[in-house]
Amino acid sequence: MVCLGNICRSPLAEGVLTQKLADRGLDWEVDSAGTGAWHVGELPDSRSIAVAHNHNIDITHQRARQFQAKDLDRFDLILAMDSSNYQNILKLATSSAQKEKVKMIMNFAQPGYNQNVPDPYYGDNGFEAVYEMLDEACEALLAAKTNN
Ligand code: 4NP
Repeated sequence: MVCLGNICRSPLAEGVLTQKLADRGLDWEVDSAGTGAWHVGELPDSRSIAVAHNHNIDITHQRARQFQAKDLDRFDLILAMDSSNYQNILKLATSSAQKEKVKMIMNFAQPGYNQNVPDPYYGDNGFEAVYEMLDEACEALLAAKTNN
């Protein structure tokens, strides 16, 4: 799960998918990162922590890290929150195999629309909407990759 700062959207995405996997008894490795380095080492934004908590998800063990080129080998699927994240990840890809792993997360919910998960950092009330989008996308991801 990749956004810009790894403090608002992608920590929520990591938490939402991790919860759904646990509910289904599936053992996937899920992680998140930001294309930028400004917040490395920080906890998720308190507003993301609060929205996750409201949905019975704890993300307070997470710490921000920067996305690295080697993540393109380490993970099977790299999910970008918006088109800017998507382009910045693709700049680090060196093979078609790596490029094919990179997807816009909302395309699992609405294929082909390239919809962005809006950056909620500078607003006050976008976090619940971000949660709802990620919940829908992660449900669709699991439906696509599994039988449940
Ligand atoms: P995120 O949100 O990419 O969803 O973690 C942001 C967090 C911090 C900044 C921008 C977006 N920032 O500019 O510091």
